[in-house]
Amino acid sequence: MSTTEQRVAIVTGAARGIGAATAVRLAAEGHAVAVLDLDESACAQTVATITEHGGTALAVGCDVSDSAQVEAAVARVTQELGAPLVLVNNAGVLRDNLLFKMSDDDWDTVMNVHLRGAFLMSRACQKHMVDAGYGRIVNLSSSSALGNRGQVNYAAAKAGMQGFTKTLAKELGKFGITANAVAPGFIATDMTAATAERVGMGFDDFKAAAATQIPVQRVGAPEDIANAVAFFTDEKAGFVSGQVLYVAGGPLN
Ligand SMILES: NC(=O)c1ccc[n+]([C@@H]2O[C@H](COP(=O)([O-])OP(=O)(O)OC[C@H]3O[C@@H](n4cnc5c(N)ncnc54)[C@H](O)[C@@H]3O)[C@@H](O)[C@H]2O)c1
Repeated sequence: MSTTEQRVAIVTGAARGIGAATAVRLAAEGHAVAVLDLDESACAQTVATITEHGGTALAVGCDVSDSAQVEAAVARVTQELGAPLVLVNNAGVLRDNLLFKMSDDDWDTVMNVHLRGAFLMSRACQKHMVDAGYGRIVNLSSSSALGNRGQVNYAAAKAGMQGFTKTLAKELGKFGITANAVAPGFIATDMTAATAERVGMGFDDFKAAAATQIPVQRVGAPEDIANAVAFFTDEKAGFVSGQVLYVAGGPLN
C-alpha cells in the first residue's frame, strides 16, 4: 500500500485498455479518479471496477482535442471530486498508413488527439497544480516515437509527446510539478487488436509473432504500463522529472 495521500487524478482515454488499468491502479494507490473518455457511458465499467474495490471514481465524457469540452470537464472534476493534481494524458488513436496514402484527416486526427489533447488537458490542470504547489503529469508516448513504418503521423505525435513532457518539466518544476513520459512497446489492447485485424492476422497469432521479437518473450499487459505510471505519480518520485521510460520488455536499441 502506498503512502500517497488522497489526491484527485484525471486519466484520459480511461474507458478501456491502458487508461482503464491506470485508473484502477491510481485508485488502488488512494487517488480519487476522474475516468475521462469520449463517451461518459463507456467509462461505466472502469468506474464500477474502482468503486467495487472501495475507491472513488467519476465518469466524465470529453473529447480531449476540444478546448471547450476540456475546460468544462476539468471544471466538473474540480467541483465534484476536487482539484486535479495528477494528470495522465493517455487518450489515443491510430490512423496508420504509408506516407503516400495518408490523408490530411489521418494526420490531423492523430495530432489533435495526442498532442493538442495533452496540451489542452495539461493547460487546464496546471493552474490547480500551481495553486497547490504539487502536481504529477504523465504523458503516454510510444516505442513508435523512434520511427515506425506506416505511422508517420503517430510517430511524430509520440516523439512530440516527449518534447512536450521535457518542456513541462522545465516550466513547472518550480511549482512542485513533475512531468514524465511512459513509452510502451506492444501492449495487448483494442488498439493492437485493431492493428492485427487491419493487417489480416488473428490477434493471438499477431501477439505470438510480436512476442518472439521482445526480449522477455511476451507482449505487455495494460497493467505493465499502469505500474510505470504509478511510479511517476507517486509523491515519493518528486525528484524524477522530464524522463521518458520505455516499457517494452527489453531495450529498443
Ligand atoms: N497498445 C499499445 O501497444 C500502445 C503502445 C504504445 C503506446 N500506446 C498509447 O497508449 C495509450 C492508450 O492506448 P490503448 O492501447 O489503451 O488504446 P485503446 O484504443 O484501447 O484506448 C484508447 C482510449 O482513448 C479514447 N480516446 C480516443 N480519442 C479520444 C479523445 N479525443 N478524447 C478522449 N478519449 C479519447 C478511446 O475512446 C479509448 O477508450 C494511447 O495514447 C496509445 O497511443 C499504446
